[in-house]
Amino acid sequence: MTSPFSLTGKTILITGASSGIGRAAAIEVSRAGADCCVLVARNEKALKETASMLSESCRSLILSCDLSDADSIQSLVNDIPVLDGVVFNAGINKMKPLPFWAETDLHDIFGVNCFAPALLLKSLVRKKKLANPSSVVFTASISGHSNVSVGNGIYGASKAALTAFMKYSALELASKGIRCNAVHPGRVETPLIHKFTSEEDIRKDLTRYPLGRYALPEEVAWTFVYLLSDAAAYITGSDIVIDGGRSLT
Ligand SMILES: NC(=O)c1ccc[n+]([C@@H]2O[C@H](COP(=O)([O-])OP(=O)(O)OC[C@H]3O[C@@H](n4cnc5c(N)ncnc54)[C@H](OP(=O)(O)O)[C@@H]3O)[C@@H](O)[C@H]2O)c1
Repeated sequence: MTSPFSLTGKTILITGASSGIGRAAAIEVSRAGADCCVLVARNEKALKETASMLSESCRSLILSCDLSDADSIQSLVNDIPVLDGVVFNAGINKMKPLPFWAETDLHDIFGVNCFAPALLLKSLVRKKKLANPSSVVFTASISGHSNVSVGNGIYGASKAALTAFMKYSALELASKGIRCNAVHPGRVETPLIHKFTSEEDIRKDLTRYPLGRYALPEEVAWTFVYLLSDAAAYITGSDIVIDGGRSLT
């Protein structure tokens, strides 16, 4: 009998699969036995690199798309096969203290982090691209959950909005057999954090992490695998924090 933790036979779409957590997610989903990974991001070359890292038994479908553009999301959906799972993971950040925000920053961050998953989920449901049963996972953040820090307000707000959207989706889609959950990572060792934080600030920040280090991308991906699997068949509308104890300090 197949383990309920296995993804054997499943087709899983991952956004932001060209880098960091999304790339690790695709690799771990393939290692868990998935039949096909649908890889979405803008950088097609990097998506091909991700595809080359998947387990041999897992097929890949590369769909290059700018998720900040609603029309591109609409046409993307036509190329997507029926899915057993989705990880809405693509995200961006711009760290700026409140007086320095521009309106465009708000649109950019909310556009990718929050509006894109909302629009893509709506289209997937309308076009019947989510199987019954299926599982949807949102990459949120402790910044929108329990951890407030200077300069991260719009990002945190976008992730809090995403989390609220997850809960409403879980309620509305339960009757269609679609589960929705969010994971809330603390800092993860990916290119995203080094874009905005100096090495000195990272050293200071690490002292707030009881486990003494940031997460590895695959440590977030393993929770995606669990939530995508049948082992999580009775979990919907939930938040899972993956932060090495950061929320405790
Ligand atoms: N790293 C952390 O410490 C941390 C902590 C908590 C939550 N998170 C969340 O985890 C997720 C992944 O972050 P990461 O750390 O892996 O960052 P990353 O390495 O910078 O990856 C971000 C991914 O998002 C994609 N993306 C960005 N803008 C896009 C757009 N307009 N259209 C399509 N794809 C787009 C990027 O692909 P292209 O550039 O190829 O388009 C890339 O694959 C994000 O939602 C982030 O907010 C990260």
